[in-house]
Amino acid sequence: MKHSVVSLTINGTERQMLVAPGTTLVEVLRENQGLAGTRRGCDQGACGTCTVLVDGKAMMSCLLPVETIEGARVETIEGLTPMQGLHPIQEAFLEGFATQCGFCTSGMIMATAGLLARNPNPSRDDAVRAISGNICRCTGYEAIIDAVLDAAKRMQAAQRSEAA
Ligand code: FES
Ligand code: FES
Repeated sequence: MKHSVVSLTINGTERQMLVAPGTTLVEVLRENQGLAGTRRGCDQGACGTCTVLVDGKAMMSCLLPVETIEGARVETIEGLTPMQGLHPIQEAFLEGFATQCGFCTSGMIMATAGLLARNPNPSRDDAVRAISGNICRCTGYEAIIDAVLDAAKRMQAAQRSEAA
């Protein structure tokens, strides 16, 4: 089978890679780019732990052959995390006890980032819908939903202080 060269902008840096047909984004991120913060669970679009942003939209990276997203802008949990400290979404999850074993957490945070990019002031129902494709075996979800709403408030406060 013929390999192809694919270009993606990953966490702000343009990358070119030679991939076999059908290679998925999660495979590229973890095995080619060393970005293991994106988890690999079911490989079937059923758990959401592989969620990243593709052109600003939360998507399950195990379902995306990279040749179908040539030229896309991909953001992972590593790109979201500032050089120092934590992103407001990460702070909300940490302080709200919305993470236990942590396996789902990067996917939950990226699903939250996708929600807040298109809807900075989500309702509780919006938050539930945004994480509806993400499975958590540990928390019972309430703390995660609270953290999504808290993250929205923190992001708004951060933007207000930047604008001041
Ligand atoms: S690993 Fe992608 S949805 Fe489960
Ligand atoms: S914290 Fe363990 S799966 Fe969500």
